[in-house]
Amino acid sequence: MDRSNMRQATGEESVVTLSFEREMSAGEVERIKRRLGARSARQVPLAVGAAYDRARQVGFTKSSRPEVGALMAVLAAAVPAGGRVLELGTGVGMGLAWVMHGLRGRADVVVVSVEVDTEKSELVSRAGWPDQVSLVVGDAREVLPGMGTFDLIFLDIPGGLKASLLEETVTALRPGGQLLIDDMNPYWSEDQTTRKSADRRDPERLLGDSRVICTELRYSSGMILGTRLSRRDACSRGETQFA
Ligand SMILES: C[S@@+](CC[C@H](N)C(=O)[O-])C[C@H]1O[C@@H](n2cnc3c(N)ncnc32)[C@H](O)[C@@H]1O
Repeated sequence: MDRSNMRQATGEESVVTLSFEREMSAGEVERIKRRLGARSARQVPLAVGAAYDRARQVGFTKSSRPEVGALMAVLAAAVPAGGRVLELGTGVGMGLAWVMHGLRGRADVVVVSVEVDTEKSELVSRAGWPDQVSLVVGDAREVLPGMGTFDLIFLDIPGGLKASLLEETVTALRPGGQLLIDDMNPYWSEDQTTRKSADRRDPERLLGDSRVICTELRYSSGMILGTRLSRRDACSRGETQFA
């Protein structure tokens, strides 16, 4: 039944991932959940399961967690007709698989994913994606400025790089376009061990950017979700903040 079993300690929560060759019915998932004594169960799409396989194959541990991927699928499903989606940091294609799940076979949306590591990008390309998907090998800092604009951007490169690309990323967002930044938990840890409190390279400074309305999502790996305002909305927005 199981092809694999991966246990990942995530603070107080323990996640067990089981992969199957086919989609399970809700009843089957419920029975497995009860048998394992699990508190919750999330069934992931088969393409996402294949990304778990790739991660195991190359020992990659930085893939998006299922809650983050599922949110990307939700956001992808809302991309307008003829829209464009960008992922910065392909990894082994977990986020990409979730985006394609959200698009539900829609061929009108262009999806671009950028990865600096050639081997990872090649591994992902072998998974066979629809024609609308472009895998770009390159440094996001170099390629992003020439990529045009997008309706949805997943900013998922390592910490300091995220912050250094914030300006270009917001610029690449179309009005109404949405931006999801992953892995914010280290910035929100109570002891703030990973940064100095006054570190202006913190991607959290997006929260103070008047071109974007955004919110912190303090679950899973920690995210910031933002929507690019039109110029008019940005001008009329109140600026009062409370800490
Ligand atoms: C957190 S992982 C991405 C996970 C992926 N988005 C997912 O949903 O599973 C970050 C990825 O960014 C890549 N990366 C690091 N620096 C980069 C850069 N300057 N440009 C593009 N990709 C980069 C890393 O090689 C790594 O694969």
